[in-house]
Amino acid sequence: MSFALEDLPYAYDALAPYMSAETLEYHHDKHHQAYVTNGNKLLEGSGLEGKSLEEIVKESYGTNAGLFNNAGQHLNHLHFWKWMKPNGGGSSLPGVLAKKVDEELGGFDKFRADFINAGVTQFGSGWAWLAVKDGKLVVMKTPNGENPIVHGATPILGCDVWEHSYYIDYRNARPKYLEAFVDNLINWEYVEELYSKAV
Ligand SMILES: [Fe+2]
Repeated sequence: MSFALEDLPYAYDALAPYMSAETLEYHHDKHHQAYVTNGNKLLEGSGLEGKSLEEIVKESYGTNAGLFNNAGQHLNHLHFWKWMKPNGGGSSLPGVLAKKVDEELGGFDKFRADFINAGVTQFGSGWAWLAVKDGKLVVMKTPNGENPIVHGATPILGCDVWEHSYYIDYRNARPKYLEAFVDNLINWEYVEELYSKAV
């Protein structure tokens, strides 16, 4: 399959003031578009043309760094836009997910602290994740364009901690961006939809 950029699921100014229209214009229209354009060029002749995006990411990991980085970032960003919504975030999780966060992650407050800490402590570019591994919720982090699927985990929530995701709105204050993401932006319904498919 070739890669294609989907429109954002909301208006460019819909996530303000937590994520500005200017950030979304650059992040979606320039950065994500570049991963799509470069990924398509690198996919040609790679031998993986007929595979799904997830298969391309898994099979290029450790064998084709250029393709892996771009395909991984395309996969990450496809979900990232859906992991946010206007008036999102906060501690009111859908029922099943709330129960599992209590049972497996020590409650919402501990999840929030651990997720933010994962993003803050990811040195350089990367992602903070909530994923399902061996049937259980785990908080993890990855560098650059890596997705948890290359580590045997299924991501159900991810926060982009590349500077292009927050520098216009928060400058170097990555912790403030992560707090705003958890408290005001997460689309918990989409997270639960992915959770129900992952377990
Ligand atoms: Fe990004």
